[in-house]
Parts: sequence; structure tokens; C-alpha cells
Amino acid sequence: MKIALGADHGGFQLKEEIKKLLQSMNMEVVDVGCDCEQSVDYPDYALPVADKVAGGECDRGILICGTGIGMSIAANKIKGIRCALVHDLFSAKATREHNDSNVLAMGARVIGPGVAQEIVKIWLETEFTGGRHSQRLDKIADIEAKEHV
Ligand code: RB5
Repeated sequence: MKIALGADHGGFQLKEEIKKLLQSMNMEVVDVGCDCEQSVDYPDYALPVADKVAGGECDRGILICGTGIGMSIAANKIKGIRCALVHDLFSAKATREHNDSNVLAMGARVIGPGVAQEIVKIWLETEFTGGRHSQRLDKIADIEAKEHV
């Protein structure tokens, strides 16, 4: 699996931890930055990750900022992205089964590296259930396709 990975300064350290985990899982990682703890703007990293997933270059994306909130808001602006903000193991599994989320957002100031690593493992290993959940995703795609005031 090919994973696009991005973070702002608040998520940089955790991104490095997650990169090591992904590599140990034999995942191919495309790291879009950032490269240090100097202050940056999270949309500048959410966009390339979301684009790579929406465009098919990567299978999934992982975004990390201080809270995960800014990253998830930004990523969900891109057509075809279903970004889930996750800080617990139950949601990591449920969002794959029910939402077929293709981007995972986490907050490095909310959870520690141990929980984050377990979330990533479960999120990558859980399959979409399909069935009744597919029609709900179709409705989200319909919303996305229409213009709203
Ligand atoms: C940066 O200070 C912080 O606002 C950012 O990492 C994130 O938490 C935004 O949602």
C-alpha cells in the first residue's frame, strides 16, 4: 500500500514516528513534509496528501497537526476525500468499516505516539463493510457533486 503522509509543525515529531511504523509494515511512504518544527500552515500539507489520494497516486493518506482538526477540515474540501479525525481505536475501525475513510487525521497534542500507532495499524488493516454503508457514501458523493449556497 502506498501512503501519503503530511504534518504541520505541531505534528512533525509524530509524523516521523508514524513514518517509521509504516516502513516497518512494508508500506511505501510519500512524505510531503513538513521537515522540522518551524511554524507552517497545515493546509499546505493537507492539500498535497489529499490530491495524491484523490488522484490515485496513493492508496491512503495520513495527516497530523496539533489537534488533527485543521488537517481534516482542509482535506475534506477535496473531492473524493473522506478524511476521518480519529483519536481512539473504536473509531479507527468504525470509520474504515462504515465510512471507507481514505485519509486519517490525528492530533499530536491530543494523543501520544503509542495510541497513534495502534490507530494507524487498525485503520490500515480494516476493510470497508460495504452493503448499506455504500448507499450513504453515494449520498455524500451526490452532495459533493452539487453546488450549495
Ligand atoms: C498549529 O498551532 C495548530 O493550530 C495546528 O497544528 C492544528 O491544531 C490546527 O487545527
